[in-house]
Amino acid sequence: MNDKIQVISKFALEGLDTQALKDKALAAKQTLESGSGAGNDFLGWLHLPSSIDDGLLRDIEGTAATLRKNCEYVICIGIGGSYLGAKAVIEALSDHFAAYKSDNGPKVLFAGSNIGEDYLYDLMDLVRGHKFGIIVISKSGTTTEPAIAFRLFKEMLEQQEGKDFAQRNIIAITDARRGALLRLSLEEGYGTFIIPDDVGGRFSVLTPVGLLPIAVAGFDIRALLAGAIEMEQGGDEQVLNYAIARNALYQQGKKVEILANFTPRLHFVAEWWKQLYGESEGKQHKGIFPASVDFTTDLHSMGQWIQDGERTIFETVLSVGDQQHEVIIPNDDADLDGLNYIAGKNVDYVNKMAELGTRLAHIDGGVPNLLITLPAVTERYLGQLIYFFEKACGVSGYMLGVNPFDQPGVEAYKKNMFALLEKPGYEEATAAIKEKLKN
Ligand code: PA5
Repeated sequence: MNDKIQVISKFALEGLDTQALKDKALAAKQTLESGSGAGNDFLGWLHLPSSIDDGLLRDIEGTAATLRKNCEYVICIGIGGSYLGAKAVIEALSDHFAAYKSDNGPKVLFAGSNIGEDYLYDLMDLVRGHKFGIIVISKSGTTTEPAIAFRLFKEMLEQQEGKDFAQRNIIAITDARRGALLRLSLEEGYGTFIIPDDVGGRFSVLTPVGLLPIAVAGFDIRALLAGAIEMEQGGDEQVLNYAIARNALYQQGKKVEILANFTPRLHFVAEWWKQLYGESEGKQHKGIFPASVDFTTDLHSMGQWIQDGERTIFETVLSVGDQQHEVIIPNDDADLDGLNYIAGKNVDYVNKMAELGTRLAHIDGGVPNLLITLPAVTERYLGQLIYFFEKACGVSGYMLGVNPFDQPGVEAYKKNMFALLEKPGYEEATAAIKEKLKN
């Protein structure tokens, strides 16, 4: 078995001349590694896995152990890059039904990634009367969604357990120098971790942003980093393969990349990936639209469109080698469901045939197919996958001709929201938006 993730582009690039793109990809990689491209003040993630300080790791593990000891629930508050990486890794590694089972550690829950009133109500209702801790994550320290959630849960915790317990069990992860969250943490005396200046939100999963929640959930952050180091030091071939293939397909008019998995635990890995690529590449009216599907579930909803709809898509299948457990399909004497032909096989064998069958059908239907193989869903291979996707994103963004490390477009909705909420300082925008809504 291969011990690294692999990118296989056999069914994506047939008949395409990719030589020019290979040169472009090498140049983009060089631009990235030399720090000579746009957004070069946000390249701290590039050597993060191999340069992370052991003292910092011990601090993270120590803090996680304290929260695990003190709390039944730990609420991670954050949005976008301050949430999706931890959510992806925790969901990928957890028992699917952990929420309904009792175990040794606290349940890690998430808030601040939406403004859902009922969501917040239900979560407050769940933790009422239980010991809980909070990890609040915001690089800017000013993002509205997590700020609302933090205000609610901080007040609730202080009232429920007292200021002293709250102070010891609230951890803030934020910028070293700026922002309301930093000021508040210093005033309240919360434990803090720093998000390095040169690491942007969506590239921050291997900083305390991702590592602390993952450690609190009981997973091995050193193995995650070890996997990332393997790709940092030996993953360039796969990085280039992926960046070349997706740019070649984009040039052929394939404007949408669908990341498909056949493993339910990877759902949030795809959500993390969508943010990484969407926010990095969607600029100047360019960029592949990153979409995702969970198969075989979505073969019964989106399968028709993918097989037969507009031919502007390509598919990247995230294929997992080994499952953690084996479940054998039993024989049934009556065989009324007609399944005896697969009796004795394990469920994953059937899933693998569904995966291959789907890929071949979609290729026949005109959907180029990339395959990314992951030997198993473990900390080590997730670490590899994270670093691989991050570096390929940087290379791919430079090939496309955009700055992959900024996100100017996300300000537009905020400006309108603040104007509509009549936030002080937005008077002019409020007047303009009211006028617009009148007509
Ligand atoms: O990738 C990004 O920069 C964004 O998605 C941010 O992570 C997200 O907007 C949250 O920002 P902050 O951590 O400042 O609250």
